[in-house]
Amino acid sequence: MFDAFISMATTSAAGNGRVLSFPPQFLWGTGTSPTQVEGHITNEWTHHVARDGRTCHPACDSYHRYPEDIEWMVRLGVKGYRMGIEWSRLQAGPCGPLNQAELARYLDQLDRLQAAGITPMVVLHHFSNPLWIIGNGGWENPATVGMFVDYVSKLAAALRSRVRLWNTFNEPDTYASCSYLIGEFPPENKWRFLAYRRVIRNMAAAHVRSCRLLRQLGSEQGPVEVGFSKNWTSFVAYHGWSPWDRLIAFLSHEIFNRFVLRSFLGAGARDVATFLGVNYYGRVRYQHTRPLIPTFGFSRARLARMGVICDDMFERDPAGMEGTLLALQTKYKLPIYVTEHGSASTDEAFRERDLTENLSALHRAMQRGVEVRGFFYWSLLDNFEWQFGYAKKFGLVAVDFTDPRLPRTMKPMGRFYGQICRDNAVGR
Ligand code: BGC
Repeated sequence: MFDAFISMATTSAAGNGRVLSFPPQFLWGTGTSPTQVEGHITNEWTHHVARDGRTCHPACDSYHRYPEDIEWMVRLGVKGYRMGIEWSRLQAGPCGPLNQAELARYLDQLDRLQAAGITPMVVLHHFSNPLWIIGNGGWENPATVGMFVDYVSKLAAALRSRVRLWNTFNEPDTYASCSYLIGEFPPENKWRFLAYRRVIRNMAAAHVRSCRLLRQLGSEQGPVEVGFSKNWTSFVAYHGWSPWDRLIAFLSHEIFNRFVLRSFLGAGARDVATFLGVNYYGRVRYQHTRPLIPTFGFSRARLARMGVICDDMFERDPAGMEGTLLALQTKYKLPIYVTEHGSASTDEAFRERDLTENLSALHRAMQRGVEVRGFFYWSLLDNFEWQFGYAKKFGLVAVDFTDPRLPRTMKPMGRFYGQICRDNAVGR
């Protein structure tokens, strides 16, 4: 089965270039998260003012406009949707009953996706929590683990007829580091390494228990697949001769990559997940102990002169996609979904090149034996990009945030990605 799967990632010649074909069952999708698109939300982000002076309300108002968003997905031609379900909407207190009106809205969303032939991957935690969890110490408090598992057990029972692809935690490393190390997410704490450790450990414990539970419960849609999404960033010294930059790169790798993977996939946790989700954007290079990325105040032009090619957020490193996928599968022996990749820019030609290069690298990894089951482009819509507000344009579909009606329009990038999804190939 595995060999049959990978041998179907094939290359053939066409015109001036090559066509990279993907296996017939490859899941082409896109994704969003509740706080970034829904609006009308009450969690720790509600009053958090981003760098552009705005908050996560009303974001894209997908809380009301999800039927329209599904129509955009149909127009794109995607077959998968990585969507979040917002815990704070569903439980008003520890171990309470699920709010039936909010549940009904999510059920309707799932039914409409099914009617459109789009498979949901449901994410249970994406950087946000109910306020009663935050008031109780958040993920620093081990009691949160049991409360989360209680929520998951109730939600999974309610959704087992509709969902078989589950994702427990999106980027626990980003959540814990931005909240407790660099102070960019609420509660904006800085350099609290022990808190970071506790949060990751507690999330990993909740992940393990949730995976077991979801697999035991099963799904009417078929075999349950469950995993979590690891943000994979490589950390490198810009000048190999700089001992400080090498030290920082080494420590970053230890803290953000190795420690998190050990906690989620180490001894005792190894067999509970059925897949590994990889969010891959690129890499971070350090010079004079500072990360060479636009969000640390460097201009893209200056970085480009240094050979550091970036979108509005990160350094791009398509070649790294191949090596990362290969290394992760060799080590953890789990099938992989690329649960996020995308770029933030208003330069659509740049984004198209970037996607082609990254998908070519992904395809090479598959030809070298990595079982990649699907790819979710981040993101369906321009949306609320956490600490940066609405300035970062990741969408396949644009949202005009200056117009209160929040009109959507297809971007060239949407047409480009849609063609790849429909062809099941890059470069046709
Ligand atoms: C997160 C998304 C975010 C994206 C781009 C990922 O770290 O999961 O929520 O929008 O990166 O920054």
